[in-house]
Amino acid sequence: MALTATEPAASTGSFGPATALSCRECGQRVELGPTFACEFCFGPLEVAYDFTPGAVTRESIARGPKNIWRYAGLLPVPADVADLPNMNPGLTPLVRADRLAAELGLRSLHVKDDSANPTHSFKDRVVAMAVEAARTFGFRTLSCSSTGNLAGAVGAAAARAGFESCVFIPAGLEEGKVVMAAVYGGKVVAIDGNYDDVNRFCSELIGDPAGEDWGFVNVNLRPYYGEGSKTLAYEIAEQLGWRLPEQIIIPIASGSQLTKIDKGFQELIALGLVEDRPYRIFGAQATGCSPVARAWEAGHDVIQPVKPDTIAKSLAIGNPADGPYVLDICRRTGGSVVHVGDDAIVDSIKLLARTEGVFAETAGGVTTGVLRALVADGVLDPEASTVVLNTGDGLKTLNAVADSGVTATIKPSLDAFKGAGLV
Ligand SMILES: Cc1ncc(COP(=O)(O)O)c(C=O)c1O
Ligand SMILES: [Zn+2]
Repeated sequence: MALTATEPAASTGSFGPATALSCRECGQRVELGPTFACEFCFGPLEVAYDFTPGAVTRESIARGPKNIWRYAGLLPVPADVADLPNMNPGLTPLVRADRLAAELGLRSLHVKDDSANPTHSFKDRVVAMAVEAARTFGFRTLSCSSTGNLAGAVGAAAARAGFESCVFIPAGLEEGKVVMAAVYGGKVVAIDGNYDDVNRFCSELIGDPAGEDWGFVNVNLRPYYGEGSKTLAYEIAEQLGWRLPEQIIIPIASGSQLTKIDKGFQELIALGLVEDRPYRIFGAQATGCSPVARAWEAGHDVIQPVKPDTIAKSLAIGNPADGPYVLDICRRTGGSVVHVGDDAIVDSIKLLARTEGVFAETAGGVTTGVLRALVADGVLDPEASTVVLNTGDGLKTLNAVADSGVTATIKPSLDAFKGAGLV
């Protein structure tokens, strides 16, 4: 097939305050480049910064665009990033969830509703970062292994920014996610296997001439991609009036998002943008794919991979790359990692919809289900300010709540309405 995309716009090629990639295991530093594993110990690389004190203030952030680029000074992107063609996600609502709080017996609860992003999941944040890195490194094709939401986010961002795209998903994903990935005109390849098979395949493809010139947002661009999740931490703090929440519940697939929200909170403290007060991070998994929660329960430091079997397909990663770091963070902050079954996920989607008018995908059912379990077990402090993440849109996982439908079908007459027992 002929290439149809225009050339991606050029950027200044600067990474802002980022200075290097550093190994999370051995601390070795390497130049900023399209790499993701330490050549000394194979540990994961992450972006390291040299922030100039006072360069980013609450006021400078408030003057910025109404999207993630208001935090550009804390991200590995050029200062003019807001002028480049990108999906410009972020600044999604932090919904004050008084009715759900009352039902659960909590004093202060908010739902961070990240379904309000351009492709209806938090993945637009991470992809926006990867797009800027891909532009700088001169890639023309964007790719990823995806549990569904990422594929849609990559397809849309590639279309907007003028990249080709070819994304890989496990066969059998929800129709809403497949259509959403395909409609932007890129290639969508379903692999006969689960996400972990797709991920392994992508690692092979990246070492082959067929894929070596591609920017895989969650493989060779993973250090940059991951930084996008820090913006959730920044936004939550800003929307709470520059305070950290005392308790937060975050879904886990690979675990990247959870680790980067913690990194974001730590940066805000280090930069003096919020008061240094303790916060507890809780990880949420579906019972049918709960390798991190199982390790937590067993008190292990290593994750035993599992074969996923759950309706929460977006979280169905059986061998999560960041699992051990999630365990460290939940331990350090006094949180925990908890799993809930598919029935509780469905009930929790409905509870969130009924009490707050937020229609979550199954991942939001997982976090809300874990919130309920933590309250029921007396783990959460009911007086503490609590945030629960909804990271995706219920319209993409309609089947999970397919038993919700019309209350009655009647003839168009008052008699029929009155006779139907509705009033
Ligand atoms: C809706 C949704 N929430 C949360 C996650 C978890 O992301 P992570 O892999 O960073 O743990 C995903 C990942 O695909 C997702 O699609
Ligand atoms: Zn290393």
